[in-house]
Amino acid sequence: MSYDRAAAWYLLCEWTENVNLRKHALAVEAAMRAHARRLGQDQEAWGIVGLLHDFDYEKNPTVESHVWVGAKHLREQGWPEAWVRAIEGHASYTGVPRDTEMARCLFAVDELSGFITACTLVRPEKAVANVPVESVLKRMKEPAFAKKVNREEIRQGAEEIGMPLEQHIVLVRDAMAGIADVLELPPKG
Ligand SMILES: [Fe+2]
Ligand SMILES: [Fe+2]
Repeated sequence: MSYDRAAAWYLLCEWTENVNLRKHALAVEAAMRAHARRLGQDQEAWGIVGLLHDFDYEKNPTVESHVWVGAKHLREQGWPEAWVRAIEGHASYTGVPRDTEMARCLFAVDELSGFITACTLVRPEKAVANVPVESVLKRMKEPAFAKKVNREEIRQGAEEIGMPLEQHIVLVRDAMAGIADVLELPPKG
């Protein structure tokens, strides 16, 4: 088999019916591509890691199964080991160290992309491109807003990649805005 974007998308869709989970994968893919661009790395590879990071989640949503089942399957299929390790590293409970930029960026964009989606959906025009960084930062301080998103992980993620949080928010927001149609969000307000 070939380990390309088409194969990754096929695998994701085979395991994941939930549209919002697919959109999460696509948002993380876009953000990973943006980081690859920033760092002069392989955008396709980084995008695939984003696309696949939660592919097992729908069927394995617990800490005992999520990532473990997926990583095993990816290894059996022969996906590159560095990609599998980056995917394992996005869940801190695996204990797999984020020892590559790819792994650190994946962790950094995962929670943040979900949080930006939440910030987008409460705006009247629901356009991701228009979400001000200040409003994302403000919402992060409201514990009742998007409660399930771990703020500490968002901060830690930016720190691990050595980017000021504001800049990182802009990068992820703009990457998501670039695929707003796919995410079914209006491109502009
Ligand atoms: Fe995950
Ligand atoms: Fe995720």
